[in-house]
Amino acid sequence: MIEGGYPLEGEIRISGAKNSTLPILAACLLCDEPMEISNVPHLQDVTTTIELLRLMGVEVTIDEKMRLEVDPSSIRRYFAPYDLVKTMRASILVLGPLLTHFGEAEVSLPGGCAIGVRPVNLHLDGLRRMGADIRVEEGYIRARADRLRGARILMDTVSVTGTENLMMAATLAEGQTVIENAAREPEVVDLANCLVRMGARIEGSGTDRIAIDGVRKLHATHHEVLPDRIETGTYLVAAALTRGHVRLRETRPELLDAVLAKLREAGARIHPGANDIEIEMRARARSVSVKTAPYPAFPTDMQAQFTALNAVAAGTGTVTETIFENRFMHIHELQRMGADIRLEGNTAIVQGVEGLRAAPVMATDLRASASLVLAALVAEGQTLVDRIYHIDRGYECIEEKLLQLGARIRRLPEGNRPVAEPAIRAAAAVRLSQA
Ligand code: EPZ
Repeated sequence: MIEGGYPLEGEIRISGAKNSTLPILAACLLCDEPMEISNVPHLQDVTTTIELLRLMGVEVTIDEKMRLEVDPSSIRRYFAPYDLVKTMRASILVLGPLLTHFGEAEVSLPGGCAIGVRPVNLHLDGLRRMGADIRVEEGYIRARADRLRGARILMDTVSVTGTENLMMAATLAEGQTVIENAAREPEVVDLANCLVRMGARIEGSGTDRIAIDGVRKLHATHHEVLPDRIETGTYLVAAALTRGHVRLRETRPELLDAVLAKLREAGARIHPGANDIEIEMRARARSVSVKTAPYPAFPTDMQAQFTALNAVAAGTGTVTETIFENRFMHIHELQRMGADIRLEGNTAIVQGVEGLRAAPVMATDLRASASLVLAALVAEGQTLVDRIYHIDRGYECIEEKLLQLGARIRRLPEGNRPVAEPAIRAAAAVRLSQA
């Protein structure tokens, strides 16, 4: 429940990047000794990945600072079950490491999700080119390979986890693998840096051509996860929306050039430091137009947040989504709050309004739910955002961090949510009594 109208003031710490932690946890499967990973964010997706590793017999211990020790030496199954993978598509990242290190893997096909079909053909085609025998049967990917062979792989679409999976698979393959049209995201670079410290031979991470020379064995290392650039961008937009003054610590401004440029265009004053960013917004934002594309262009994971910013900005802004086919679910919810947005194909035309009004809204996917929280911070009245488990997947302690910045936000325990109509409530009561 969020009461709008309070400018955000103060400073918070940015957590480690979710989309760097997940592939690095998978990379632990490439060696036989305990790996140490620090600056790990306390997120549902991280918990899910730890659960998946433990299911395979991998020992994972967590200390009070969320520093992980991952010991794969006791692994006994190379299996990722549907009921886990369906809750987190990024589970597919264990496929490459299992296959290249143990010669076999059985991983549930990740279903689609709210934002799109999200196939994994590029992952499978790349592994086949490296000599893997891959069958898809009864919703599972069954993969086998004596030893993968290096290959030249041209990705016809830039794929972040596709690049990561193939890069990990190539580290222990025979010979050289070259990935063309590779993803350039900072999380790909963070993974490559970790793999190199484990003894892998990788050139070109961060460019669209990555060359990996296979080695026989990798050893453990300690890795500190890089800061989350999307969490950073989300709080920057929150500060701009509420016309506040916020400082974000332990982050890396250089990872957000495209986002900072758009915030400046919207009228924000941004002061980037070595590992912090300060933002000040004293007047109403000006509308901006954004078009998502692979890094270093404007990130799709910041699209919903900028749609919310444009909703209350002065002027008309367009938001074009080129990565996912259905990443506009937040628009219907924003319209319920009074936003004036028209969808034309993959472009949202956003006519800024003076103010939004509170309304009960429902989260549908991680970044859409973040944009609803942002809108609620400026909407008049109390907004209830439902299904916030989507938020907990990607934002560590979001209400604590927003409270620290002066927002009026509280998390309603499950039971306290405004009740559904009596029939549904009665049915729920019966279910509870039977449970
Ligand atoms: C990663 O997803 C991120 N997740 C996503 O973040 C992010 O939105 C996305 O990259 C784009 O930046 C993680 O890193 C765990 P893609 P990923 O493969 O790798 C198509 C978040 O909010 N494609 O780069 O799954 C795909 O359908 C999440 O934190 C194929 O066609 O995305 C999409 O249109 C959401 N075949 C495009 O490529 C494939 O085999 C880019 O997808 C793979 C992808």
